[in-house]
Amino acid sequence: MAILKIARMGHPVLRHRAQEVENPAAPAIRNLIRDMLETMEDADGAGLAAPQVHVPLRLVIFHVPPDRAEDEDDETPVPLTVLMNPVIEPLTGETEMGWEGCLSVPGLIGSVPRFTRIRYRGVGPDGSAIDRTAEGFHARVVQHECDHLDGILYPQRMTDLSLLMFRDQMRYQPGAGAQGEDLGEDLGEDLGEEADEEVA
Ligand code: NI
Repeated sequence: MAILKIARMGHPVLRHRAQEVENPAAPAIRNLIRDMLETMEDADGAGLAAPQVHVPLRLVIFHVPPDRAEDEDDETPVPLTVLMNPVIEPLTGETEMGWEGCLSVPGLIGSVPRFTRIRYRGVGPDGSAIDRTAEGFHARVVQHECDHLDGILYPQRMTDLSLLMFRDQMRYQPGAGAQGEDLGEDLGEDLGEEADEEVA
């Protein structure tokens, strides 16, 4: 078991397309998954992509925690998922803005448009096929993680860079409480956006 070093924005491994996982059940892949799970847990993230730990392979892990799902009316928790060689298909042209952080872009937070409904397919750690539809935060985290496999970080998806900011400055946003608590819901009302965020 090991907590892996996380690559930060600017490192070449985050800027290039990652390669397909040839053998999802290989021992080396199993070890990588184990270390990525430990790393994500240690960093308190919602997701992690292999390039973020300096491994240029098409492998992501993510989950929708129960406490995150409780914030949303139509959100259900998604158990920890290991997804290799993923393919995403938008099921709608509709996008919505939402706050995202990234373990590779520490200290910053940005409002990013994402498709609201997607289908994603890939392979699990036992070689079995994964084929799911996702909405809301579930769809957002999958799009964020899979972007890492194509060398894309969330600021590259932003349409309004005035909404890229330091996390500790969120308290100055309209509607944010003095303590910065529950600013997610307050911000959501004032900006008309989903304001909860997770690092991934
Ligand atoms: Ni990320």
